[in-house]
Amino acid sequence: MIYWMPGEAMNEIMVGDLSEFTEGGYRVLRVDSFEFGIFRQGDRLVAYENHCPHDGGPVCQGKVIPRVEEELAPDQTSRGLRFSKKRNIVCPWHGWEFDIETGRHCGDPKYRLRPIDVKVRDNRVYVSVPPAA
Ligand code: FES
Repeated sequence: MIYWMPGEAMNEIMVGDLSEFTEGGYRVLRVDSFEFGIFRQGDRLVAYENHCPHDGGPVCQGKVIPRVEEELAPDQTSRGLRFSKKRNIVCPWHGWEFDIETGRHCGDPKYRLRPIDVKVRDNRVYVSVPPAA
């Protein structure tokens, strides 16, 4: 894990063409000792440091799966489980699941993946990495 302060100047680097990031897919990249994952969700890219807040596992290398939701009746009885259109990243070490859109743990939102700034300009993908990377 690399430490940096909020507001600290970051280094922007180009990591590839947008076409290299396929819909629903992801890439895990490394800049020196800094690892991160970039996930494509439709027209949007999100990126997180590859460090699980549970125990430091390589969370961005886990599976990306549809979220399972339980529909409740007005009396709070279950109408059954169903797959959502939303997706989660599952950490490969102990199975913690994180909302791919927000990086927050699905059961306890005080745990979250550390977001990395990612931008697309002229069909190229840029990320901001800490200067110590
Ligand atoms: S290190 Fe990720 S779930 Fe434990």
